[in-house]
Amino acid sequence: MIAASIEDYRRAARTRTPHFLFEYVEGGANEEVTLRRNIEGLAGVSLRQRVMRDVRDTELSTELFGNKLSMPIILSPVGLAGMYARRGETLAAQAAAAQGVPFCLSTVSVCPIKEVAAASPAPFWFQLYMVRDRGFVRSMIDAAREAGCTALTVTVDMPLPGYRYRDIRSGLAGAPGLFGQLRRLSQALRRPEWAVNVGLRGKPHTLGNVAPLLGPHAGLGEFFAWVAANFDQSVTWADIEAIRAEWSGPLIIKGLLDPDDALEAARCGADAVAVSNHGGRQLDGALTTVEAVPPVAESVAREGFGNVRIIADGGVRTGTDVLRLLALGAHSVAIGRAWLYGLAADGQRGVEGALKILEAELRVAMALTGLRSISEINRDALA
Ligand code: GLV
Repeated sequence: MIAASIEDYRRAARTRTPHFLFEYVEGGANEEVTLRRNIEGLAGVSLRQRVMRDVRDTELSTELFGNKLSMPIILSPVGLAGMYARRGETLAAQAAAAQGVPFCLSTVSVCPIKEVAAASPAPFWFQLYMVRDRGFVRSMIDAAREAGCTALTVTVDMPLPGYRYRDIRSGLAGAPGLFGQLRRLSQALRRPEWAVNVGLRGKPHTLGNVAPLLGPHAGLGEFFAWVAANFDQSVTWADIEAIRAEWSGPLIIKGLLDPDDALEAARCGADAVAVSNHGGRQLDGALTTVEAVPPVAESVAREGFGNVRIIADGGVRTGTDVLRLLALGAHSVAIGRAWLYGLAADGQRGVEGALKILEAELRVAMALTGLRSISEINRDALA
């Protein structure tokens, strides 16, 4: 397929994916104010064009946790990615490896961690949800270690799922039993290619990491029930300290917006904080990434945690957006919907295509702001 932009992949994904799945990736919490403002906020950041700077050798590579990245982009963990293409998480891991960037596997992936480890030519990251069943949490940390994962991301902005109108309207949430199944089935049948390639040939459609707890006959309904019942609303920083004690590799605390929370994470021994409002899917009305990154970056540096890396996500749809977030203080940028659109539109090729688009756009944006390397990017790049 021909795609010039992430938006092209988004449009293709919409025509190829059953309605309830497209709405799940597309939507945010409540009125989607934060979701929209993430994108508008980035569009409102003006860059400082510079000219006559010999930009023949613009270098996009960077280093994170001692590893080289071809560019400062990370594939965010996305739940249920394996519903968007056959065994989708294995495809995303392979695409990320081919493009030289990290892929972070979600706890609530379709493909279990072992399946992704067997398919991925490069080490990947693992994302952990703190669930009530701490035995499960420990077993996931062990599984990540065994799979050779090079970083652990703990998501802290989901003590409970956000309230998302689209999922209720589409039939993904709040429609249990036969009625819900029939609604989803009728939506799937309107996407025949998906129905065959993913619906039939992409099974099992379980949450692969959770499946051992629920047994072989559990359906998507049982998995959602497990997720809803198991999000732990009692979590505190003491839980992060406990994880820090168990995981010696790079630890990323994902889903904070407040400088004080970033400092707590740093004090707990985090190697990175991911400044994120979960793609506008959690607290509607929360700060946008553009608003949140500068104060977090400044306070972390000011309080003596300058070695803590800042990862930013939310609303990134172009390579120019990547440059904007780096200029605002991030060291690297994570993408969620941008890669999922590619996956839903064109499988592994689509994820690679999306990454290539972001790379090309970032290269042009750096050249036109007179920047030759990632380490040169700072607030001077802002107009
Ligand atoms: C899960 O992380 C979601 O946003 O649905």
